[in-house]
Amino acid sequence: SHDESRQPMSLTPINAPFPSTRLRRLRRNPALRGLAAENVLSVDDLIWPIFVMEGDNDAHPIPSMPGVSRLTIDRAVNAAKEARDLGIPAICIFPYVEGSFKTEDCKLAWSADNLSNRATAAIKSAVPEVVVMTDVALDPYNANGHDGIVRDGVIVNDETVEALVKMALAQAAAGSDILGPSDMMDGRIGAMRRALEADGFQDTAILSYSAKYASAFYGPFRDAVGASGALVGDKKTYQMNPANSDEALRLVARDLAEGADMVMVKPGMPYLDICRRVKDQFGVPTYAYQVSGEYAMIAGAGANGWINEEQVMMESLIGFKRAGCDGILTYFAPRAAKLLNG
Ligand code: PBG
Repeated sequence: SHDESRQPMSLTPINAPFPSTRLRRLRRNPALRGLAAENVLSVDDLIWPIFVMEGDNDAHPIPSMPGVSRLTIDRAVNAAKEARDLGIPAICIFPYVEGSFKTEDCKLAWSADNLSNRATAAIKSAVPEVVVMTDVALDPYNANGHDGIVRDGVIVNDETVEALVKMALAQAAAGSDILGPSDMMDGRIGAMRRALEADGFQDTAILSYSAKYASAFYGPFRDAVGASGALVGDKKTYQMNPANSDEALRLVARDLAEGADMVMVKPGMPYLDICRRVKDQFGVPTYAYQVSGEYAMIAGAGANGWINEEQVMMESLIGFKRAGCDGILTYFAPRAAKLLNG
């Protein structure tokens, strides 16, 4: 237990005024706090993930993500216009795929006119200045909910990579600016980069979900994309063990060597130590994904009046900047942008 008689060793010379350092001087008022601020969150740092669904002019609220809805393509285009008006540089598209379209071979994933690709094309034609990021993983299209092709209960790596390459090319052809492989298969970045170069998509960037953990914080997302019911087992044979940190650095090094332009740590708040290590070690564009479960905790507690939602939201976002991130994927993007724009 704490021993009151043990004092920390004083660094103050015995005859100096006490206290020798008044760090509170620079916290006295907003102007001084602003001058002394080490990090700043800006609208430029935000990537806004949205969920799209089939249909016309409709939105379906996602119960486990209060304030977030699935949007039909026309509404997704409006969201992109909102992003442009708010100064949010990028949106990220996730499709909700009906159960009847999910198959074992996942072939809808690389169909040129699937929902995600139609949404990408519609947004790029209406609002070309907004960067569109798309998700490269098979889970929305997979009958068993996994990010890879399953054979005899095993997620097969190399066959999945072949499928992901086709998916990446279809997304690039639809106009996606940034491909976000979130599947955690080995070798997918190199395979995608080679195929993109060969097919004339030299300028399509890859933001690799390099350090993606097997996390229970993805629960609400799986509701949002309709994968919760489909998922058989868990994703621990391909997503990372939350106990690991050095492994994240190996993954980032590997993905950069294979041609990733940007890297991601996911989830965000419980993994800020990983963000910091990645940024310090590699000095490359580093992003964090404040995932659905993190959003749900803040929005749910906020809706109950247990926390001040707006303040917690902004505090959580500056935490990513402090941890070294260049940007944040967050469902709070439009709300944070409105606050930042005053
Ligand atoms: C799947 C994917 C997931 C998320 C983004 N892409 C879920 C998963 O791996 O099961 C999670 C995002 C979130 O929770 O907000 N490829």
